[in-house]
Formats: sequence, structure tokens, C-alpha cells
Amino acid sequence: MQHSATLARLWPASAVRARAGDLELRWIDDDLLVQLADLAGRGIHAPDAMPFEHPWTRGTADEVARSVVTYQWGLRTQVSPQAFVLEFAVLHDGVPVGVQGLTAKDWTVLRSVQSGSWLGQEHQGRGIGTRMRALVLHLAFAGFGAIEATSGAFADNVSSNAVSRRIGYEFDGVDRVAREGAAVAHNRYRMTRERWESLRDAHATLLGAPVELEGVEAIRTPAGG
Ligand SMILES: CC(C)(COP(=O)(O)OP(=O)(O)OC[C@H]1O[C@@H](n2cnc3c(N)ncnc32)[C@H](O)[C@@H]1OP(=O)(O)O)[C@@H](O)C(=O)NCCC(=O)NCCS
Repeated sequence: MQHSATLARLWPASAVRARAGDLELRWIDDDLLVQLADLAGRGIHAPDAMPFEHPWTRGTADEVARSVVTYQWGLRTQVSPQAFVLEFAVLHDGVPVGVQGLTAKDWTVLRSVQSGSWLGQEHQGRGIGTRMRALVLHLAFAGFGAIEATSGAFADNVSSNAVSRRIGYEFDGVDRVAREGAAVAHNRYRMTRERWESLRDAHATLLGAPVELEGVEAIRTPAGG
């Protein structure tokens, strides 16, 4: 499509894709954004839980959905050769089920990415969270040429901590983080490139299909980087 080709030339992040069988990570265009916002409005976690430092999931369905839209629009201005916040729609069998993000500061110097994610509650607990983490690590290491990936989760977030352990991250310590007015333990996790290489077979088994990447070159070798 002419429009997509032009957008990819002007803003290469829009062309990044990662696919493994029925699972795909794709740049969030406005059509996907509306569907993801609607999904978030239907709920991401139980009311007595809070997986995020900034409690953007509190409020009415429309308030939560609107915050997804405005947050994602804001992120589009935060992709440069030196630093990026890239958030991808997670599609399962073509259906948008959540968001998987990769953030890098001083990318050309550090080559380190941090991941963050959410799934609509109706799509949780079926192994998608584990597989999308394996897929985004493949994108970061094999696609973008990262040398390190980090992640974190509040200690009381059972499923997110379980994903990091299952994927094979090393535990990297505990921070105290302010969450809704209380100091809460927050676990750090780290995956070096060497460790990821040693886990590739295990991740391939988890993903269950070969990984196909598209549009990674502009992030891998940023102009002027
Ligand atoms: C965290 C999240 C992305 C994980 O995705 P998911 O698809 O639900 O997780 P999976 O089905 O792949 O399961 C991962 C592990 O968590 C466990 N798990 C999943 N849901 C669970 C629950 N409600 N209670 C206990 N364990 C649970 C699974 O058994 C599995 O552990 P195992 O590999 O040791 O068997 C998803 O639950 C989510 O979006 N949660 C709300 C937002 C959030 O927490 N984001 C991350 C912020 S750090």
C-alpha cells in the first residue's frame, strides 16, 4: 500500500513486525489503537490489584480507553535514532489482545531495552503473555541487535513475575516503588544477550513456530548511530 510505504520511509518504526505462527507484534496504527483502547476499557486486572506504577487503569471504561489513545499518540513523538519507546499491538489469530512495549534510552550507546506489557483480562492466563515476551526478546536481540533486556514487576504481580522466570531472566534485585500512596516491592529482571542465545531453543519451543521479522533494519542501524 502506497500510504504504508511512505509512512515507513518517513517513520520507520511503523514498518516493524514480528510474527511466530498465530502471534504477531505490529505497530499500533489508529484502527488498532481504537480496538486496544476498547479492550483496555473492558479491564486489565482485578479491581484490588494494581500492576502499574502509574494507575492508568483506574476510572470508567471510557477514561481508561481515552488514556490508552492519548498515551499511544504521545509515544509516537518519542522515537528517534538515539532513544525509543516502541509499543506493539499483540495480535493472536489476528485479534488484538494487548500491548507489548520496548523502551530504550541512549540506545546507540547502551543497546539495552526494557519491556513492559498488558493483555486484556479476557485473554490472560492462556500462555499468550509468555509467548509474546519470547517474541519481543527475539525482536530485540536478533532484530534490533540489543545486548541486554530488562523487565520488572511488582512483587505481588504473580503472572508477570512468573513470565519473567519462565522465560529465563536472572533476578536482579528489588526496589521500593511508590504505588497508589504506598511503598511496594518491585522486582527487577535481566537477560543478557549470551543468556538469551543459550535459551533460544527453549524459546523456540515456547513460540511453536519460526519467527519472522520485518522492518528491523532502521532500528538496528539508526541513521547517524
Ligand atoms: C502479566 C501478563 C502480561 C501475563 O500474561 P498471561 O498471558 O496472563 O500469562 P501466561 O498465561 O503466559 O502465564 C504466565 C505464568 O503466570 C501464571 N499465571 C497466569 N495467571 C495467573 C494467575 N491469575 N494467578 C497465578 N498465576 C498465574 C501461569 O501459570 C504462568 O506460570 P508458569 O509459566 O509458571 O506456568 C498478563 O497477565 C497481564 O496483562 N496482566 C495485567 C497487566 C500486567 O500485569 N502487566 C505487566 C506489568 S509488569
